[in-house]
Amino acid sequence: MSEYTLQEFIQDSEAEAAAHSELADTVRAITPLMYRLLSSPRDFLKPDHFQSEAGHYARNLVYAAEDAGLSLYTLVWRPGQWTPVHDHGTWGVVGVIEGQLEEQSYMRTDPEQSADRHTGIDLHRGGLVLLSPGSVSTFVPNPDHIHRTGCPDHLPRCVSLHLYGRAMNSFYCYDAAAGTRELVDVAHKETRLGQSSEAAE
Ligand SMILES: [Fe+2]
Repeated sequence: MSEYTLQEFIQDSEAEAAAHSELADTVRAITPLMYRLLSSPRDFLKPDHFQSEAGHYARNLVYAAEDAGLSLYTLVWRPGQWTPVHDHGTWGVVGVIEGQLEEQSYMRTDPEQSADRHTGIDLHRGGLVLLSPGSVSTFVPNPDHIHRTGCPDHLPRCVSLHLYGRAMNSFYCYDAAAGTRELVDVAHKETRLGQSSEAAE
């Protein structure tokens, strides 16, 4: 497999996102691109992209389209750090760089799943996947792909690469016990997000 650069990956991903009207087709086209990027030299990742935080998982920006289209981040998970239960409102392609990433899925079963409904949400825990370096995982919205992601506390640090179909400045966080969800501004509340992960489950 020939070397594949970050610039090529971004250009190709933007072209695929523009070429498909069905988001499932977008992620199907971009998944092998992410896989190829993970198999290529990772000199596009700088020390800043491996920064972590003591109190919560860290999100480090790699690329953001000027038109608020695609965005690419590294997420750095110290042992025991998790997201809340959440969805993204867009598609995503996730690749693992280092360590083991665990993704736990949730299924929403309440009958009225309108976009403006924030209470009476019925969530059930689904399956999980364990992703190793080089693995790629994807999600597509509508219906929302609801999940919780993190690094088990008995394992070393995990670093993953996340491509989203929009600027990822907010997403829905769910309280499964209360049956509610809340649109959270990630840019301003990321610390609170990570610290509230236990309550969110
Ligand atoms: Fe996510």
